Amino acid sequence: MWTSAILALAAARGTYAWGALGHETVAYIAQDFVKPTTKTWAQNILDDTTTSYLANVATWADAYRYTAAGAFSAPYHFIDAEDTPPSSCSVNYARDCGTKGCSVSAIANYTSRVQDASLPDTEVTTALKFIVHFVGDITQPLHDEALEVGGNDIDVTFDGTSTNLHHIWDTNMPEELRGGYSLTDARAWATNLTSEIKAGAYKSEAASWISGLNINDAVTTSMTWATDANAYICSVVLPKGQSAVESGDLYPTYYNSAIPTIELQIAKAGYRLAKWLDAIAAGEWSKKRTVELGEKRGYYHREVRSEDLLEGVSSLVTPSKLRRAAVGWGCGHQH
Ligand SMILES: *[C@@H]1O[C@H](CO)[C@@H](O)[C@H](O)[C@H]1NC(C)=O
Ligand SMILES: *[C@@H]1O[C@H](CO)[C@@H](O)[C@H](O)[C@H]1NC(C)=O
Ligand SMILES: [Zn+2]
Repeated sequence: MWTSAILALAAARGTYAWGALGHETVAYIAQDFVKPTTKTWAQNILDDTTTSYLANVATWADAYRYTAAGAFSAPYHFIDAEDTPPSSCSVNYARDCGTKGCSVSAIANYTSRVQDASLPDTEVTTALKFIVHFVGDITQPLHDEALEVGGNDIDVTFDGTSTNLHHIWDTNMPEELRGGYSLTDARAWATNLTSEIKAGAYKSEAASWISGLNINDAVTTSMTWATDANAYICSVVLPKGQSAVESGDLYPTYYNSAIPTIELQIAKAGYRLAKWLDAIAAGEWSKKRTVELGEKRGYYHREVRSEDLLEGVSSLVTPSKLRRAAVGWGCGHQH
């Protein structure tokens, strides 16, 4: 009964985490940049040959986390950096990931699993869907911050609506910019950002977004992405501290200060996702899977050492981790 109440609440809220618009835009940008062989590989795994094959699964993980079967994955949507914004921003894997896992360990785990020939097809499909989602989540600054449960408990007013800081970054501000949240809106935003990456405002910096990208060291690579996003907590999200966003309407002044970072982070996530998937699909087993989907066992097995991923992660129960656990890893909160 409690579970169904939570599910009903989750459904009523509709979107969580870079809302649908953000995640689907990230997915479409990735579709614009992946190699043709990567597209075939992903379409096979997802059993979807439409022009929205990544966008169609981009928000699956946010619905799954609110199911009984998927509750274990709720902590994978963020890493609770216990830094001290705005004076000091930082992410530390051992300090911040938590023993139940985080976005960084999840990206590493599912990058390994999507390449694991010993897993059933359904698990490989699940792994790809998680990757498409978490590479998006990790670029949203408030998914890399512990303060007030990633800003979920910072009450704000946006354009006359009472909401919270996390929610306006995930949803209100992107939707204000683009005027909607349908797949069509996401496609249009992606087309714009793809052009900016190829020939516009982001052309000169796009290479730096994927610097050091290494699928065989997914923890280090995704820590780079988490650290990059977390830095915006100090410079853009809360430059004057928490109290500065708790009074007054954050539209339009705060919105105008935040929008360039939102567009930049969505663009980064899409471009990184494309390069990440290209690297995975270029691997031996992934190539094999593309041509002989049914005959995979025994060909190539990238060993999954799930336990090793969280080795050295602090098991200290901090006040932030207690608060996160108390809200059921996000139930009743949008994240
Ligand atoms: C992208 O959209 C912005 C408005 O948000 C516009 O100024 C810019 O010219 C567009 N870029 C491209 C390449 O279409
Ligand atoms: C890796 O993913 C599997 C399947 O979702 C999960 O059972 C396992 O706990 C995960 N391991 C880590 C370290 O996240
Ligand atoms: Zn999420």
